[in-house]
Amino acid sequence: MKQILILLTPVLLMSGGSFITQKEYAAQLYKNPRGIGCQLCHGEKGEGRVIANYVHKKKEKSFVGPAINNLDFQTFYKALNVRKNAMPRYFLTDEEIEALYLHIHQNESIKMGEEENVSRSSKSL
Ligand code: HEC
Repeated sequence: MKQILILLTPVLLMSGGSFITQKEYAAQLYKNPRGIGCQLCHGEKGEGRVIANYVHKKKEKSFVGPAINNLDFQTFYKALNVRKNAMPRYFLTDEEIEALYLHIHQNESIKMGEEENVSRSSKSL
């Protein structure tokens, strides 16, 4: 037992600080959210993408994951908490939904850490 502890000590010390940044965490969550990755249906940056083309009653059709990089937080949040037709249900926490939203909007200057957008939108839910 002692030996194991000695072996583990450096690992434990290294993990004392924050392991990965919030940004890295959100990027990972987007690709691996306890289910299939959002990018498979919504594109790497939430820009939307065609998931499959198929023929139905002799007409060509596409099954599309809509763009999700143009939604306000409230719409985004709601969409992840209701039953959808084709999209899997994820049961994400509020923090996870927030992180995903920030990930998709990382190149824009929205301030969510200050809770302004979040509290305003959750009040009107
Ligand atoms: C299997 C494909 C698939 C995956 C994986 C997926 N989605 Fe979706 N998503 C869809 C489809 C299709 C819709 C359109 C509504 C419907 O038919 O379900 C949608 C709708 C949405 C909407 C609402 C869009 C709007 O305009 O209201 C949001 C937000 C969203 N998805 C976010 C996510 C996030 C975040 C993830 C990862 C946690 C994710 N989706 C994973 C297929 C997917």
